[in-house]
Amino acid sequence: MITRIEIDGFKSFLDFKLDVPPFLALVGPNSSGKSNLFDALEYLRNTNWGDEDSLLASRRGRPHELFHRVSKGRPVTWFEVHALTVTTIGNGLFTDWHGSGADLGEDGIPISLALDRPESVDVLDGLSPWRIEKHAEAALEMARALRVLDEEKSGPRHYLRLQRSELDSWRLHQPDPDRLRGWSSAADHGPLRADGSNLATVLGRLKTQGAIEELLVDLVALIPDLTGIEPILDERRQEWTFDVLVDGQGAIPSTLLSDGTLRVIALLAALHDPDHAGVLLIEEIENGLHPSRLAELLRRIQGRVTDLNDPECVNRPLRQVILTTHSPVVVSELYRLRPDALVFLDTAVRVDPDNDRISRVTVAKPVRSEGEPGTFVSPRQVRKYLSAVGEVP
Ligand SMILES: Nc1ncnc2c1ncn2[C@@H]1O[C@H](COP(=O)(O)OP(=O)(O)O)[C@@H](O)[C@H]1O
Ligand SMILES: [Mg+2]
Repeated sequence: MITRIEIDGFKSFLDFKLDVPPFLALVGPNSSGKSNLFDALEYLRNTNWGDEDSLLASRRGRPHELFHRVSKGRPVTWFEVHALTVTTIGNGLFTDWHGSGADLGEDGIPISLALDRPESVDVLDGLSPWRIEKHAEAALEMARALRVLDEEKSGPRHYLRLQRSELDSWRLHQPDPDRLRGWSSAADHGPLRADGSNLATVLGRLKTQGAIEELLVDLVALIPDLTGIEPILDERRQEWTFDVLVDGQGAIPSTLLSDGTLRVIALLAALHDPDHAGVLLIEEIENGLHPSRLAELLRRIQGRVTDLNDPECVNRPLRQVILTTHSPVVVSELYRLRPDALVFLDTAVRVDPDNDRISRVTVAKPVRSEGEPGTFVSPRQVRKYLSAVGEVP
């Protein structure tokens, strides 16, 4: 679970810092940097100790385009992305910094770099074994002091595996309804893929694990005429598909379901997966959903994310949701329920006299009750409108 993000020099970010709660909604006008934030996290996740190919793995942008562009002054030839995370380890929680960046070498060819904690200024060309040991040693000492690790599990290799599994648990959620309808292989034990193409298999696994009943409780609250989900395994092909039971219509195959219904099922499958908790990065949550369902969906998501103030949570896999939205309904609902979950992203012109630079950067601020000029009507106005049309009690 991510608790803080610091980005400097990547895409639209210069010296950007953000504390991240277990449930975070990023709102703001087009091109304000919401998706860029996901790109930065994806970059950090894909970067494996300075693995050079990780620069090429970026979804949006060629390697040299990831460096912050300035309209005037010295070009930016360096970027870094850091995240502070909290992970369940043994019977406790463990915090750790992850960092990676890239440098435009003298020849102008970008190389990616693994970085140490942001407090330290030294940067490593790939991590030397000595450095890994030292870094791991410090972290493990902390874990031992907290008595959360058995002695035999506390080697540097174990620590690296922990770090890797934290990064692997950050997942983009951008389902494609056509893919949600398809058959998927029984050999797949992974989490729901970003495009949702293994939804049927995930539902099959949830059924075997007895997790589908809990999912149904959330589903029925959102789509009241659904009464069940029936994952079906084709034994010969070893592939899953699923039917949905609808009041008065019987079993409807996944191929016939509406896009909105499929999207809701996919999101709930990701949120209820007992094997794969972690961080869900959801682009434009309102996609394909009727506004009247959105408020309830947010409440259901909130019920699934980890509340770090609840001591019970230490024993459970940590779950976090970070979403982007343009929906006034989302802003209004969260403003009422969880104002701390709302962050408004905008752009501002930044002048850096030291480097004689001028550029447009992403800035973060809390959402104001009176609304943001030119973008959002205020959360209060939206609620008034929604109550008038009977969408919100
Ligand atoms: N390397 C870069 N340097 C500066 N700005 C960038 C860079 N790459 C992208 N951007 C800016 O980010 C904007 C896109 O931001 P994005 O996160 O996709 O917006 P949204 O908030 O709509 O998701 C672009 O319009 C561009 O201005
Ligand atoms: Mg976007």
